Amino acid sequence: MNILKVNIPGREYDIKIQKGILDNAGVLIAEVSPVGKAAVVTDENVAPLYAEKLLDSLKKSGFSPFLVTVPAGESSKSLKYLEFLYAELLSNKITRSDIVIALGGGVVGDLTGFCASTLLRGIPFVQIPTTLLSQVDSSVGGKVAINLPAGKNLAGAFYQPRLVIIDPNCLDTLSDKIFSDGMAEVIKYGAILDENFFAKLENSASRAKVMEIIEDVIYHSCDLKRQVVEDDELDLGGRMILNFGHTFGHAIEKKYNFETYTHGEAVAAGMVMAAEYGESLGITKDNSKDRIRSLISAFGLPEEIDIDEQTLSGSIAVDKKGKGDFVSLILPEKIGKVIIKDIKKDHIWTK
Ligand SMILES: NC(=O)c1ccc[n+]([C@@H]2O[C@H](COP(=O)([O-])OP(=O)(O)OC[C@H]3O[C@@H](n4cnc5c(N)ncnc54)[C@H](O)[C@@H]3O)[C@@H](O)[C@H]2O)c1
Repeated sequence: MNILKVNIPGREYDIKIQKGILDNAGVLIAEVSPVGKAAVVTDENVAPLYAEKLLDSLKKSGFSPFLVTVPAGESSKSLKYLEFLYAELLSNKITRSDIVIALGGGVVGDLTGFCASTLLRGIPFVQIPTTLLSQVDSSVGGKVAINLPAGKNLAGAFYQPRLVIIDPNCLDTLSDKIFSDGMAEVIKYGAILDENFFAKLENSASRAKVMEIIEDVIYHSCDLKRQVVEDDELDLGGRMILNFGHTFGHAIEKKYNFETYTHGEAVAAGMVMAAEYGESLGITKDNSKDRIRSLISAFGLPEEIDIDEQTLSGSIAVDKKGKGDFVSLILPEKIGKVIIKDIKKDHIWTK
């Protein structure tokens, strides 16, 4: 088993990664929680695939689990489903000495974590992420949130889980599109922080090949994010490099109404745009842009998405990472090394 220790002072926790680990989840959760009630929150797609296995494992370890299912998709990260969760957990008489478990992708993780962070002023929670994106991204860092009518993730908290259990076998049931969506973040970690890791991905540039080394890939991705997050738990500066590709990506998502492209697809094209922009400023060197482009395309992610200058600058003008007339762009110098460059918003280049 790969175990990664996340050292947020006072709120340390382990990320345990192993194929088939879901069968053993009850034992692992009993190591971090008194054996009492366990609320398992999942969505309608994940429930028929993995809920029974988890419930059985919890029962074997002496827990009294109950299952709460929300619809699949981003719309469940809402006040409506937060209220639904509060009601379900309270009607099952959950207490602060019980445990709340998120079994699902980032939507279930964010919603459940936010519920756990606020209900009864905080109930311990465990993450069992089941998409690649949630395994390598949302399970590290403690950000939990719901969306509000005014925007994404506007009501949220920093709330660290007691434990994260990652079973890469869960990825077998993902569509190629959702698998690739997560690969965009994996590629991003290599591009911003670790050339060797990036090269490893280049040598395993297909879903089948990556699955042969998946425990290592997930461990390494979580470890890279861990290093950034431990230095900047509350997202006050250092975490900014994780936004590589996101300023352009966010503009793309907005232009296409968050429908045509997944977040990972938009970020993938956004990373290429950032590298192209970096090249035009003489910052991005070697053949970094081409390496990013090829790796993205090997995983079926778009290297390029059409976006006009007006839409791009309109989106950048209201970017929440903006500072007055400037926006901080993350630009690669080379694979594994990025810089943060403040650019005047109306000087953003496009093709
Ligand atoms: N908290 C953070 O740090 C953080 C980081 C990144 C993203 N996020 C959030 O995560 C969300 C996106 O996460 P996501 O991409 O996992 O989306 P998701 O939770 O909507 O999952 C994508 C789809 O895959 C299905 N699914 C999940 N696991 C499956 C499996 N093993 N087999 C088959 N189908 C499965 C889901 O039902 C859903 O339809 C966004 O709301 C985003 O804001 C949070």
